[in-house]
Amino acid sequence: MTAMETNVHGQLEIGGMSTDELTAAYGTPLMVYDEEMIREKARSFREAFIESGLEFQVAYASKAFMCKEMVRLAEEENLSLDVVSGGELYTALQAGFPAGRIHFHGNNKSEEELVMALEAEIGCFVVDSFLELELLHDLAKEREQQVNILLRVTPGVEAHTHDYIMTGQDDSKFGFGISTGQADRAMQIALCKPYYTVLGIHSHIGSQIFELDGFQQAITVLSDFLQGVRIECDVVLPVLNIGGGFGVRYTEEDKPLPISDYIKAITDSVKESFGENGYPLPEVWIEPGRSIVAEAGTTLYKVGSKKIIPDVRTYVSVDGGMTDNLRPALYGAKYHAVLANRPNEECTELVSIAGKCCESGDMLIWDLMLPPVNFGDTLAVFSTGAYGYSMANNYNRIPRPAVVFVKDGESRVVIERESYADLVRLDR
Ligand code: LLP
Repeated sequence: MTAMETNVHGQLEIGGMSTDELTAAYGTPLMVYDEEMIREKARSFREAFIESGLEFQVAYASKAFMCKEMVRLAEEENLSLDVVSGGELYTALQAGFPAGRIHFHGNNKSEEELVMALEAEIGCFVVDSFLELELLHDLAKEREQQVNILLRVTPGVEAHTHDYIMTGQDDSKFGFGISTGQADRAMQIALCKPYYTVLGIHSHIGSQIFELDGFQQAITVLSDFLQGVRIECDVVLPVLNIGGGFGVRYTEEDKPLPISDYIKAITDSVKESFGENGYPLPEVWIEPGRSIVAEAGTTLYKVGSKKIIPDVRTYVSVDGGMTDNLRPALYGAKYHAVLANRPNEECTELVSIAGKCCESGDMLIWDLMLPPVNFGDTLAVFSTGAYGYSMANNYNRIPRPAVVFVKDGESRVVIERESYADLVRLDR
């Protein structure tokens, strides 16, 4: 479930370093990534595809966690990169990521963002709306630049997940609906535009998905759609991108499948659905974010206070909260945690973990069993590697934590801790 193990001294360890050493060196709150675990996840996706025999690209969805070092790691692991904003694109380019392996998403890419991506000669634009279809082509034409595109479509599949992170249903802000005929119309327009090379279609049904049926249903719909395009327009498109969304374990209630199972189900479905239509097997692209980084991340906090309300609840407050992990407040997301400095002690106390923001909703974990907690203890919250730092904020002018990568007993800072001076840097 976690990136953390106990060493021979009974201390908790991440990537061969004790959490005591880490907090002594870098302070708290601290986000610690087990680098090897990130690499293993990336490799599992690629290996499962190699096994399938299909052509593929695994693009890391950088929104889950991005910094220059993470981009370099993605490059080293032969991943492509999914970016959704000028800022993510800029970070990727600053880190020297090969532009040809960058895919640009977003339901409202600005003209400046599109030009930036055209100038960088990125690998593919995932076009999301009729306006973008025109705007991007006008810009490409002005520059006399041929661009690769995928059309983002919504297959009308409802994934079993939180409403806020479900994206494949008809009523969605993203993409062209297949059932409404918009996808057909967008495809006809795109295929007539000389500066577009239409590679295929993209669909992302949602995030933190545990069942396979949503992916399988989507693939059937997408394959039938492409078959329709072949019949109507006499064109075979070579790429099917089915997005990300593979579930991870936050608490023991979560039972994700092994990565290889997701990929086998997807590639089997592709072989079956496209095979039935007699359609040449497409190259399959995916965009995992959470499943590459979530479980590799652990956040270490110091306990600063404790409030016991007899017969009601014990609040244990830590030195971070919704500023470094918004997910509990935003989605009611659940996490598991232990006392990092006393991991083997018996858990006899039922507590709730509060953040330090001036807001009652700033609770990280409700009802957690821990050993009796004292001032100065270190709390380790597991599986915080995805959508934690990337959604971090400065509410209450709390600086963002430092982020370190740990591997083979050695640690390195990949994002510095924000300082108070950083907080006023843009103030006038
Ligand atoms: N591709 C597209 C087009 C996406 O919209 C997303 C996520 C992904 C790939 C990556 O999905 P993943 O493999 O990470 O599930 N902030 C939310 C998650 C929002 C996901 C948005 N899109 C959370 O903390 O749960």
